[in-house]
Amino acid sequence: MLQPVIVGLVLISCTCAENPGVQVILTDKGLQYGKHLGAGWIQEKLPLVTFPDINGRLLGSIYYTLSGVTITKCDLPEPSVEFYQEVNGVKTSVSGLSVAVTGRWTTQFGLIHDGGSFNLALFNMDVTSEVALGKDDGGHLSVTSVHCNTRLQDVNMQFYGGASWMFNPLVDYFKGHIKSKIEAAICPAVDEYIANLEYHLQAMKVSFDVDENVTFDLPLISIPIVNASSMNLGLKGEFYSVRPRIDPPFEAQPFTVEKQPGYMLSVGLSEFTLNSASFALHSAGLLQTIITDSMIPPNIPVHLNTSWMGPYVPQLPKMFPGLLMVLQIYAREVPMFSFQSGVVKLPIEGAVKAFAIQPNGTQIPLFKLHVVSTYYFTLALASSEVGTFQPRVYLSVSAELGKGAVLPRMKNAQLVNTVLGMEKGFVAIASDVQVLLAGVN
Ligand SMILES: *[C@@H]1O[C@H](CO)[C@@H](O)[C@H](O)[C@H]1NC(C)=O
Ligand SMILES: *[C@@H]1O[C@H](CO)[C@@H](O)[C@H](O)[C@H]1NC(C)=O
Ligand SMILES: *[C@@H]1O[C@H](CO)[C@@H](O)[C@H](O)[C@H]1NC(C)=O
Ligand SMILES: *[C@@H]1O[C@H](CO)[C@@H](O)[C@H](O)[C@H]1NC(C)=O
Repeated sequence: MLQPVIVGLVLISCTCAENPGVQVILTDKGLQYGKHLGAGWIQEKLPLVTFPDINGRLLGSIYYTLSGVTITKCDLPEPSVEFYQEVNGVKTSVSGLSVAVTGRWTTQFGLIHDGGSFNLALFNMDVTSEVALGKDDGGHLSVTSVHCNTRLQDVNMQFYGGASWMFNPLVDYFKGHIKSKIEAAICPAVDEYIANLEYHLQAMKVSFDVDENVTFDLPLISIPIVNASSMNLGLKGEFYSVRPRIDPPFEAQPFTVEKQPGYMLSVGLSEFTLNSASFALHSAGLLQTIITDSMIPPNIPVHLNTSWMGPYVPQLPKMFPGLLMVLQIYAREVPMFSFQSGVVKLPIEGAVKAFAIQPNGTQIPLFKLHVVSTYYFTLALASSEVGTFQPRVYLSVSAELGKGAVLPRMKNAQLVNTVLGMEKGFVAIASDVQVLLAGVN
Protein backbone atom coordinates (compact mmCIF):
# COMPACT_ATOMS: atom_id res chain seq x y z
CA MET A 1 0.00 0.00 0.00
CA LEU A 2 2.75 2.36 1.01
CA GLN A 3 5.17 1.23 -1.68
CA PRO A 4 3.54 3.01 -4.66
CA VAL A 5 3.49 6.18 -2.60
CA ILE A 6 7.20 5.89 -1.84
CA VAL A 7 8.00 5.11 -5.47
CA GLY A 8 5.91 8.12 -6.46
CA LEU A 9 7.76 10.36 -4.02
CA VAL A 10 11.12 9.09 -5.26
CA LEU A 11 10.09 9.81 -8.84
CA ILE A 12 8.93 13.30 -7.90
CA SER A 13 12.18 14.04 -6.07
CA CYS A 14 14.13 12.76 -9.09
CA THR A 15 12.39 15.14 -11.46
CA CYS A 16 12.98 17.97 -8.98
CA ALA A 17 16.68 17.23 -8.98
CA GLU A 18 17.03 18.18 -12.65
CA ASN A 19 19.78 20.75 -13.13
CA PRO A 20 19.14 23.91 -15.11
CA GLY A 21 20.91 24.34 -18.44
CA VAL A 22 20.53 28.11 -18.23
CA GLN A 23 20.55 30.26 -15.11
CA VAL A 24 19.48 33.87 -14.99
CA ILE A 25 20.17 36.07 -11.98
CA LEU A 26 18.28 39.33 -11.81
CA THR A 27 20.13 41.74 -9.53
CA ASP A 28 18.76 44.64 -7.55
CA LYS A 29 20.00 46.96 -10.31
CA GLY A 30 17.79 45.04 -12.75
CA LEU A 31 14.83 45.16 -10.36
CA GLN A 32 15.20 48.94 -9.94
CA TYR A 33 15.32 49.37 -13.72
CA GLY A 34 12.13 47.30 -13.98
CA LYS A 35 10.50 49.45 -11.31
CA HIS A 36 11.47 52.59 -13.16
CA LEU A 37 9.78 51.27 -16.32
CA GLY A 38 6.76 50.09 -14.32
CA ALA A 39 6.30 53.44 -12.58
CA GLY A 40 6.38 55.26 -15.91
CA TRP A 41 3.87 52.83 -17.31
CA ILE A 42 1.51 53.25 -14.33
CA GLN A 43 1.75 57.04 -14.54
CA GLU A 44 0.73 56.76 -18.19
CA LYS A 45 -2.14 54.34 -17.55
CA LEU A 46 -3.58 55.99 -14.42
CA PRO A 47 -5.92 58.38 -16.25
CA LEU A 48 -7.48 55.34 -17.92
CA VAL A 49 -8.12 53.43 -14.70
CA THR A 50 -11.78 52.68 -14.04
CA PHE A 51 -12.98 52.35 -10.48
CA PRO A 52 -15.69 50.06 -9.20
CA ASP A 53 -18.79 51.74 -7.82
CA ILE A 54 -18.84 52.29 -4.10
CA ASN A 55 -22.22 51.80 -2.38
CA GLY A 56 -23.35 51.80 1.16
CA ARG A 57 -25.90 53.03 3.63
CA LEU A 58 -25.78 56.20 5.64
CA LEU A 59 -27.74 57.45 8.61
CA GLY A 60 -29.70 54.21 8.78
CA SER A 61 -31.74 54.27 5.60
CA ILE A 62 -30.13 56.46 2.93
CA TYR A 63 -28.63 54.24 0.25
CA TYR A 64 -25.90 55.89 -1.77
CA THR A 65 -23.78 55.02 -4.81
CA LEU A 66 -20.60 56.73 -5.98
CA SER A 67 -20.03 55.85 -9.63
CA GLY A 68 -18.14 56.86 -12.76
CA VAL A 69 -15.09 57.68 -10.67
CA THR A 70 -12.12 58.99 -12.67
CA ILE A 71 -8.78 60.39 -11.60
CA THR A 72 -8.33 64.10 -12.25
CA LYS A 73 -4.95 64.53 -10.61
CA CYS A 74 -2.45 62.15 -9.16
CA ASP A 75 0.74 62.72 -7.27
CA LEU A 76 2.56 59.40 -7.53
CA PRO A 77 5.72 59.31 -5.42
CA GLU A 78 8.50 56.96 -6.58
CA PRO A 79 7.51 53.51 -5.31
CA SER A 80 10.07 51.33 -3.57
CA VAL A 81 10.63 47.78 -4.75
CA GLU A 82 12.88 45.21 -3.11
CA PHE A 83 13.55 41.50 -3.16
CA TYR A 84 11.84 40.03 -0.13
CA GLN A 85 13.20 36.71 1.02
CA GLU A 86 10.46 36.15 3.64
CA VAL A 87 7.87 35.50 0.92
CA ASN A 88 10.37 34.41 -1.77
CA GLY A 89 9.26 37.33 -3.85
CA VAL A 90 9.09 41.07 -4.13
CA LYS A 91 7.77 43.78 -1.85
CA THR A 92 6.48 47.00 -3.36
CA SER A 93 5.35 50.02 -1.44
CA VAL A 94 4.20 53.51 -2.23
CA SER A 95 3.83 56.05 0.51
CA GLY A 96 2.37 59.53 0.44
CA LEU A 97 0.21 58.96 -2.61
CA SER A 98 -2.37 61.72 -3.13
CA VAL A 99 -5.15 61.51 -5.67
CA ALA A 100 -8.03 63.73 -6.73
CA VAL A 101 -11.03 62.04 -8.33
CA THR A 102 -14.37 63.11 -9.64
CA GLY A 103 -17.60 61.16 -10.09
CA ARG A 104 -21.38 61.01 -9.70
CA TRP A 105 -23.37 60.42 -6.57
CA THR A 106 -26.91 59.08 -6.22
CA THR A 107 -28.95 58.49 -3.11
CA GLN A 108 -32.15 56.72 -2.43
CA PHE A 109 -34.18 57.41 0.67
CA GLY A 110 -37.42 55.46 0.46
CA LEU A 111 -38.98 56.57 -2.83
CA ILE A 112 -36.88 59.72 -3.07
CA HIS A 113 -34.04 59.53 -5.60
CA ASP A 114 -31.44 62.24 -5.79
CA GLY A 115 -28.08 62.73 -7.48
CA GLY A 116 -25.27 65.00 -8.63
CA SER A 117 -21.51 65.10 -8.95
CA PHE A 118 -18.70 65.11 -6.43
CA ASN A 119 -14.99 65.78 -6.06
CA LEU A 120 -12.97 63.65 -3.74
CA ALA A 121 -9.38 64.11 -2.61
CA LEU A 122 -7.41 61.29 -1.00
CA PHE A 123 -4.43 62.45 1.04
CA ASN A 124 -1.33 60.53 1.97
CA MET A 125 -2.18 57.01 1.05
CA ASP A 126 0.31 54.19 1.74
CA VAL A 127 0.02 50.91 -0.13
CA THR A 128 2.25 47.88 0.49
CA SER A 129 2.05 44.72 -1.54
CA GLU A 130 4.02 41.49 -1.15
CA VAL A 131 4.09 39.12 -4.07
CA ALA A 132 5.49 35.59 -3.98
CA LEU A 133 7.24 34.26 -7.08
CA GLY A 134 6.81 30.69 -8.15
CA LYS A 135 6.37 28.51 -11.17
CA ASP A 136 3.31 26.91 -12.71
CA ASP A 137 3.09 23.40 -14.17
CA GLY A 138 3.99 24.71 -17.62
CA GLY A 139 7.25 26.22 -16.36
CA HIS A 140 6.05 29.83 -16.48
CA LEU A 141 6.99 32.33 -13.81
CA SER A 142 3.99 32.84 -11.53
CA VAL A 143 3.10 35.68 -9.18
CA THR A 144 0.77 35.43 -6.18
CA SER A 145 -0.33 38.22 -3.91
CA VAL A 146 0.42 37.14 -0.35
CA HIS A 147 -0.07 40.36 1.54
CA CYS A 148 -1.50 43.79 0.86
CA ASN A 149 -2.01 46.69 3.17
CA THR A 150 -3.49 50.16 2.65
CA ARG A 151 -3.64 53.18 4.92
CA LEU A 152 -5.31 56.39 3.94
CA GLN A 153 -4.65 59.38 6.14
CA ASP A 154 -7.44 61.69 5.11
CA VAL A 155 -10.18 62.33 2.58
CA ASN A 156 -11.98 65.45 1.58
CA MET A 157 -15.25 65.56 -0.33
CA GLN A 158 -17.42 68.15 -1.95
CA PHE A 159 -20.88 67.38 -3.37
CA TYR A 160 -22.66 69.31 -6.13
CA GLY A 161 -26.23 69.23 -7.42
CA GLY A 162 -29.39 67.75 -5.92
CA ALA A 163 -29.62 68.02 -2.18
CA SER A 164 -25.85 68.40 -1.92
CA TRP A 165 -26.33 71.45 0.33
CA MET A 166 -27.63 68.92 2.81
CA PHE A 167 -24.65 66.50 2.50
CA ASN A 168 -21.76 68.91 2.46
CA PRO A 169 -22.09 69.76 6.14
CA LEU A 170 -22.22 66.02 6.85
CA VAL A 171 -18.93 65.21 5.08
CA ASP A 172 -16.96 65.33 8.30
CA TYR A 173 -19.50 63.03 9.85
CA PHE A 174 -19.22 60.20 7.32
CA LYS A 175 -15.61 60.81 6.23
CA GLY A 176 -14.42 57.86 8.33
CA HIS A 177 -16.95 55.64 6.61
CA ILE A 178 -15.91 56.71 3.08
CA LYS A 179 -12.24 56.42 4.04
CA SER A 180 -12.61 52.82 5.19
CA LYS A 181 -14.64 52.01 2.04
CA ILE A 182 -11.81 53.34 -0.12
CA GLU A 183 -9.14 51.58 1.92
CA ALA A 184 -11.08 48.35 1.54
CA ALA A 185 -11.29 48.79 -2.23
CA ILE A 186 -7.55 49.30 -2.89
CA CYS A 187 -6.15 45.84 -2.04
CA PRO A 188 -8.73 43.95 -4.11
CA ALA A 189 -7.75 46.23 -7.02
CA VAL A 190 -4.05 45.46 -6.41
CA ASP A 191 -4.84 41.73 -6.25
CA GLU A 192 -6.77 41.96 -9.48
CA TYR A 193 -3.81 43.68 -11.12
CA ILE A 194 -1.51 40.88 -9.93
CA ALA A 195 -3.97 38.22 -11.16
CA ASN A 196 -3.95 39.95 -14.53
CA LEU A 197 -0.15 39.92 -14.56
CA GLU A 198 -0.23 36.21 -13.70
CA TYR A 199 -2.57 35.66 -16.63
CA HIS A 200 -0.08 37.34 -18.98
CA LEU A 201 2.83 35.36 -17.54
CA GLN A 202 0.95 32.11 -18.16
CA ALA A 203 0.49 33.08 -21.79
CA MET A 204 4.22 33.62 -22.33
CA LYS A 205 6.10 31.20 -24.53
CA VAL A 206 8.63 28.91 -22.88
CA SER A 207 9.52 27.03 -26.05
CA PHE A 208 10.87 28.59 -29.24
CA ASP A 209 11.16 27.14 -32.71
CA VAL A 210 14.64 27.89 -33.96
CA ASP A 211 13.57 26.60 -37.36
CA GLU A 212 11.31 23.86 -38.64
CA ASN A 213 13.70 21.15 -37.36
CA VAL A 214 14.98 22.42 -34.01
CA THR A 215 13.19 23.76 -30.93
CA PHE A 216 14.64 25.53 -27.89
CA ASP A 217 12.94 24.66 -24.62
CA LEU A 218 13.28 27.27 -21.88
CA PRO A 219 10.75 26.63 -19.08
CA LEU A 220 11.57 27.19 -15.42
CA ILE A 221 12.50 23.86 -13.88
CA SER A 222 12.25 25.01 -10.26
CA ILE A 223 10.76 27.92 -8.40
CA PRO A 224 12.78 31.14 -8.47
CA ILE A 225 15.10 31.56 -5.50
CA VAL A 226 14.99 35.01 -3.98
CA ASN A 227 17.45 36.43 -1.48
CA ALA A 228 17.93 39.96 -0.23
CA SER A 229 19.89 41.08 -3.28
CA SER A 230 18.82 38.97 -6.22
CA MET A 231 16.55 36.43 -7.83
CA ASN A 232 17.87 33.25 -9.43
CA LEU A 233 15.92 31.53 -12.21
CA GLY A 234 16.82 27.97 -13.21
CA LEU A 235 15.72 27.27 -16.78
CA LYS A 236 15.83 24.05 -18.75
CA GLY A 237 17.76 25.45 -21.75
CA GLU A 238 17.56 22.42 -24.02
CA PHE A 239 17.63 22.32 -27.81
CA TYR A 240 16.07 19.28 -29.41
CA SER A 241 15.29 18.12 -32.90
CA VAL A 242 11.62 17.78 -33.71
CA ARG A 243 9.88 15.23 -35.93
CA PRO A 244 10.49 12.99 -34.07
CA ARG A 245 11.51 14.63 -30.81
CA ILE A 246 14.93 13.38 -29.81
CA ASP A 247 16.31 14.52 -26.46
CA PRO A 248 20.06 14.55 -25.94
CA PRO A 249 21.45 11.44 -24.23
CA PHE A 250 23.27 13.55 -21.63
CA GLU A 251 22.14 15.72 -18.73
CA ALA A 252 22.87 19.19 -17.41
CA GLN A 253 25.49 19.28 -14.68
CA PRO A 254 25.18 21.58 -11.68
CA PHE A 255 26.98 24.93 -11.94
CA THR A 256 27.00 28.12 -9.93
CA VAL A 257 26.73 31.54 -11.55
CA GLU A 258 28.10 34.38 -9.50
CA LYS A 259 25.99 37.46 -9.30
CA GLN A 260 27.68 40.51 -10.88
CA PRO A 261 26.29 43.38 -8.80
CA GLY A 262 27.24 46.09 -11.31
CA TYR A 263 24.98 44.53 -13.95
CA MET A 264 21.25 43.98 -14.17
CA LEU A 265 21.56 40.37 -15.26
CA SER A 266 24.00 37.52 -14.88
CA VAL A 267 23.34 34.60 -17.19
CA GLY A 268 25.03 31.20 -17.18
CA LEU A 269 24.79 29.21 -20.42
CA SER A 270 25.92 25.65 -19.73
CA GLU A 271 27.85 23.17 -21.83
CA PHE A 272 24.65 21.14 -21.75
CA THR A 273 22.71 23.85 -23.61
CA LEU A 274 25.31 24.29 -26.34
CA ASN A 275 25.85 20.54 -26.64
CA SER A 276 22.10 19.93 -26.87
CA ALA A 277 22.13 22.38 -29.80
CA SER A 278 24.96 20.49 -31.39
CA PHE A 279 23.15 17.18 -30.79
CA ALA A 280 19.87 18.55 -32.17
CA LEU A 281 21.54 19.82 -35.34
CA HIS A 282 23.25 16.47 -35.73
CA SER A 283 20.00 14.54 -35.12
CA ALA A 284 18.17 16.67 -37.62
CA GLY A 285 20.84 15.87 -40.16
CA LEU A 286 21.95 19.47 -40.34
CA LEU A 287 25.62 18.98 -39.52
CA GLN A 288 26.41 18.11 -43.10
CA THR A 289 26.78 19.91 -46.32
CA ILE A 290 27.37 19.20 -49.99
CA ILE A 291 29.96 21.15 -51.94
CA THR A 292 29.70 21.25 -55.72
CA ASP A 293 31.94 22.80 -58.32
CA SER A 294 29.53 25.68 -58.87
CA MET A 295 29.93 26.71 -55.21
CA ILE A 296 33.65 27.34 -55.62
CA PRO A 297 34.24 31.05 -56.13
CA PRO A 298 35.46 31.88 -59.66
CA ASN A 299 38.65 33.54 -58.33
CA ILE A 300 39.89 30.23 -56.87
CA PRO A 301 41.79 28.34 -59.59
CA VAL A 302 40.56 24.87 -58.62
CA HIS A 303 37.71 22.83 -60.00
CA LEU A 304 35.91 19.89 -58.51
CA ASN A 305 36.70 17.96 -61.65
CA THR A 306 38.53 14.63 -61.78
CA SER A 307 40.92 16.00 -64.44
CA TRP A 308 42.16 18.55 -61.91
CA MET A 309 42.87 16.00 -59.18
CA GLY A 310 46.06 14.51 -60.68
CA PRO A 311 48.45 16.22 -58.27
CA TYR A 312 46.52 14.80 -55.26
CA VAL A 313 45.11 11.47 -56.51
CA PRO A 314 47.20 10.53 -59.59
CA GLN A 315 45.04 7.63 -60.76
CA LEU A 316 41.78 9.58 -60.65
CA PRO A 317 42.06 11.47 -63.99
CA LYS A 318 42.97 8.18 -65.67
CA MET A 319 40.06 6.17 -64.23
CA PHE A 320 37.37 8.86 -64.62
CA PRO A 321 38.57 11.60 -66.95
CA GLY A 322 36.76 14.93 -67.17
CA LEU A 323 33.97 14.34 -64.67
CA LEU A 324 32.63 16.86 -62.19
CA MET A 325 32.84 15.91 -58.51
CA VAL A 326 30.83 16.61 -55.35
CA LEU A 327 32.10 16.54 -51.77
CA GLN A 328 29.85 15.51 -48.93
CA ILE A 329 31.13 16.87 -45.61
CA TYR A 330 29.58 15.70 -42.34
CA ALA A 331 30.19 15.22 -38.63
CA ARG A 332 30.80 11.59 -37.69
CA GLU A 333 30.22 12.31 -34.00
CA VAL A 334 28.25 15.06 -32.27
CA PRO A 335 30.75 17.87 -31.66
CA MET A 336 30.78 18.44 -27.90
CA PHE A 337 31.82 21.75 -26.35
CA SER A 338 33.83 21.75 -23.19
CA PHE A 339 34.32 24.99 -21.28
CA GLN A 340 37.27 25.65 -19.04
CA SER A 341 38.21 28.88 -17.39
CA GLY A 342 38.94 31.19 -20.32
CA VAL A 343 38.87 28.48 -23.05
CA VAL A 344 36.33 26.55 -25.09
CA LYS A 345 37.38 23.24 -26.56
CA LEU A 346 35.45 21.81 -29.50
CA PRO A 347 36.73 18.52 -30.92
CA ILE A 348 35.25 17.76 -34.32
CA GLU A 349 35.33 14.36 -35.92
CA GLY A 350 34.27 14.91 -39.47
CA ALA A 351 34.45 13.06 -42.73
CA VAL A 352 34.60 14.05 -46.38
CA LYS A 353 33.21 11.75 -49.06
CA ALA A 354 34.04 12.49 -52.69
CA PHE A 355 31.94 11.40 -55.65
CA ALA A 356 32.37 11.72 -59.42
CA ILE A 357 29.24 12.58 -61.37
CA GLN A 358 28.70 10.68 -64.59
CA PRO A 359 27.07 12.49 -67.52
CA ASN A 360 23.78 10.65 -66.83
CA GLY A 361 23.85 11.91 -63.21
CA THR A 362 24.94 8.69 -61.48
CA GLN A 363 27.43 9.32 -58.65
CA ILE A 364 30.46 7.07 -58.29
CA PRO A 365 32.01 6.98 -54.81
CA LEU A 366 35.70 7.87 -55.04
CA PHE A 367 37.22 8.19 -51.59
CA LYS A 368 36.50 9.10 -47.99
CA LEU A 369 38.68 11.13 -45.64
CA HIS A 370 38.40 11.32 -41.87
CA VAL A 371 39.07 14.69 -40.37
CA VAL A 372 39.81 15.02 -36.68
CA SER A 373 40.45 18.44 -35.36
CA THR A 374 40.05 20.24 -32.09
CA TYR A 375 39.19 23.87 -32.05
CA TYR A 376 40.25 25.97 -29.12
CA PHE A 377 38.41 29.22 -28.80
CA THR A 378 40.16 31.59 -26.53
CA LEU A 379 39.14 34.54 -28.62
CA ALA A 380 37.38 37.54 -27.22
CA LEU A 381 35.46 35.38 -24.81
CA ALA A 382 37.94 35.63 -21.95
CA SER A 383 36.24 38.39 -19.97
CA SER A 384 36.29 40.87 -22.75
CA GLU A 385 34.05 43.79 -23.35
CA VAL A 386 31.99 43.15 -26.46
CA GLY A 387 30.00 46.31 -26.27
CA THR A 388 26.42 46.76 -27.37
CA PHE A 389 24.89 44.02 -29.44
CA GLN A 390 21.52 42.53 -30.15
CA PRO A 391 20.88 39.35 -28.15
CA ARG A 392 21.13 37.24 -31.23
CA VAL A 393 23.48 34.35 -30.73
CA TYR A 394 24.65 32.26 -33.61
CA LEU A 395 25.67 28.78 -32.68
CA SER A 396 27.88 27.98 -35.54
CA VAL A 397 29.30 24.61 -34.63
CA SER A 398 31.98 25.05 -37.23
CA ALA A 399 32.21 27.16 -40.32
CA GLU A 400 31.85 24.24 -42.74
CA LEU A 401 29.82 21.80 -40.73
CA GLY A 402 27.50 24.03 -38.86
CA LYS A 403 24.41 25.83 -39.78
CA GLY A 404 23.68 28.92 -37.73
CA ALA A 405 20.82 28.68 -35.29
CA VAL A 406 19.28 31.90 -34.11
CA LEU A 407 18.20 32.04 -30.51
CA PRO A 408 14.88 33.71 -29.70
CA ARG A 409 15.39 37.39 -30.05
CA MET A 410 13.71 39.88 -27.77
CA LYS A 411 11.71 42.31 -29.83
CA ASN A 412 11.63 45.24 -27.48
CA ALA A 413 14.84 44.86 -25.53
CA GLN A 414 18.52 44.78 -26.18
CA LEU A 415 21.53 43.86 -24.13
CA VAL A 416 24.02 46.63 -23.44
CA ASN A 417 27.38 46.68 -21.57
CA THR A 418 27.65 42.96 -22.10
CA VAL A 419 30.65 41.04 -20.79
CA LEU A 420 31.34 37.39 -21.55
CA GLY A 421 33.52 35.06 -19.52
CA MET A 422 34.35 31.36 -19.68
CA GLU A 423 33.99 29.34 -16.53
CA LYS A 424 34.30 25.63 -15.95
CA GLY A 425 31.19 24.14 -17.52
CA PHE A 426 29.47 27.34 -18.64
CA VAL A 427 29.67 30.70 -20.37
CA ALA A 428 29.00 33.56 -17.98
CA ILE A 429 27.31 36.63 -19.42
CA ALA A 430 26.85 39.79 -17.37
CA SER A 431 24.75 42.48 -18.97
CA ASP A 432 22.46 45.42 -18.68
CA VAL A 433 19.20 45.51 -20.59
CA GLN A 434 17.67 48.40 -22.42
CA VAL A 435 13.95 48.23 -23.07
CA LEU A 436 12.86 50.11 -26.16
CA LEU A 437 9.52 51.50 -25.13
CA ALA A 438 8.42 52.40 -28.61
CA GLY A 439 6.28 49.50 -29.68
CA VAL A 440 5.60 48.16 -26.16
CA ASN A 441 1.92 48.38 -25.28
C1 LIG B 1 14.88 20.62 -41.99
O1 LIG B 1 15.23 19.27 -42.26
C2 LIG B 1 15.00 18.87 -43.60
C3 LIG B 1 15.30 17.39 -43.69
O2 LIG B 1 16.56 17.11 -43.12
C4 LIG B 1 15.85 19.72 -44.55
O3 LIG B 1 15.58 19.38 -45.86
C5 LIG B 1 15.50 21.21 -44.33
O4 LIG B 1 16.35 22.02 -45.11
C6 LIG B 1 15.69 21.56 -42.87
N1 LIG B 1 15.28 22.92 -42.64
C7 LIG B 1 16.09 23.88 -42.20
C8 LIG B 1 15.48 25.22 -42.02
O5 LIG B 1 17.25 23.66 -41.92
C1 LIG C 1 21.98 35.78 -3.37
O1 LIG C 1 22.03 34.88 -4.48
C2 LIG C 1 23.05 35.19 -5.42
C3 LIG C 1 22.91 34.27 -6.61
O2 LIG C 1 22.06 33.21 -6.43
C4 LIG C 1 24.41 35.06 -4.76
O3 LIG C 1 25.43 35.35 -5.72
C5 LIG C 1 24.46 36.03 -3.60
O4 LIG C 1 25.68 35.86 -2.91
C6 LIG C 1 23.29 35.78 -2.64
N1 LIG C 1 23.31 36.86 -1.67
C7 LIG C 1 23.09 36.66 -0.39
C8 LIG C 1 23.08 37.85 0.48
O5 LIG C 1 22.90 35.53 0.07
C1 LIG D 1 36.86 18.96 -66.41
O1 LIG D 1 38.12 19.56 -66.70
C2 LIG D 1 38.59 19.23 -67.96
C3 LIG D 1 40.00 19.82 -68.12
O2 LIG D 1 40.03 21.18 -67.83
C4 LIG D 1 37.64 19.75 -69.04
O3 LIG D 1 38.10 19.37 -70.31
C5 LIG D 1 36.26 19.17 -68.81
O4 LIG D 1 35.33 19.70 -69.70
C6 LIG D 1 35.78 19.42 -67.38
N1 LIG D 1 34.57 18.71 -67.16
C7 LIG D 1 33.39 19.33 -66.96
C8 LIG D 1 32.20 18.46 -66.81
O5 LIG D 1 33.31 20.56 -66.87
C1 LIG E 1 25.09 5.88 -66.20
O1 LIG E 1 26.22 5.66 -67.02
C2 LIG E 1 27.12 4.64 -66.56
C3 LIG E 1 28.33 4.57 -67.50
O2 LIG E 1 28.28 5.50 -68.51
C4 LIG E 1 26.40 3.31 -66.49
O3 LIG E 1 27.30 2.30 -66.01
C5 LIG E 1 25.20 3.43 -65.57
O4 LIG E 1 24.48 2.23 -65.55
C6 LIG E 1 24.30 4.58 -66.00
N1 LIG E 1 23.26 4.75 -65.02
C7 LIG E 1 21.99 4.93 -65.33
C8 LIG E 1 21.06 5.08 -64.19
O5 LIG E 1 21.62 5.00 -66.49
